[in-house]
Amino acid sequence: MAAVEVEADGVLSEMIGIGNVCVDAEIEHKGFGRLLMSAAGIYIRENKRKGILLCKSKVKGFYHNCGWQIVCSNNTWINFERYHDGVMMDTEEPQRYKSLVINRNF
Ligand SMILES: CC(C)(COP(=O)(O)OP(=O)(O)OC[C@H]1O[C@@H](n2cnc3c(N)ncnc32)[C@H](O)[C@@H]1OP(=O)(O)O)[C@@H](O)C(=O)NCCC(=O)NCCS
Repeated sequence: MAAVEVEADGVLSEMIGIGNVCVDAEIEHKGFGRLLMSAAGIYIRENKRKGILLCKSKVKGFYHNCGWQIVCSNNTWINFERYHDGVMMDTEEPQRYKSLVINRNF
């Protein structure tokens, strides 16, 4: 987990970035990934922040099952570099922004 600054359509907020969620291949599909995301969600809510994560399309379904939503933006930048993969947030509805600028990778 990492503190990140996110500027979404010009509005700056501090969020908690979730990265490197990983479960050993021998114990995949037993609920441990969901458990990790649940613990991360508790931490995020306790700190009164929004959560953000970067993900490849093949794992979007996993995060969606854990209650995270797709963020649409055709103009996403991370640490001054253009980013083209998926972004998700722990919001109730999918989000759509014209531009999303994240200050660091995580
Ligand atoms: C992605 C990963 C963390 C999931 O962990 P896991 O312990 O296998 O997942 P869980 O058993 O907790 O599954 C939680 C839910 O997500 C679903 N799910 C799991 N992997 C999924 C996937 N790749 N795509 C879609 N849904 C998935 C499960 O079916 C389950 O849904 P259900 O409870 O409705 O049945 C694990 O597969 C992994 O470590 N993968 C390799 C590393 C990786 O790609 N990490 C993501 C970095 S962005």
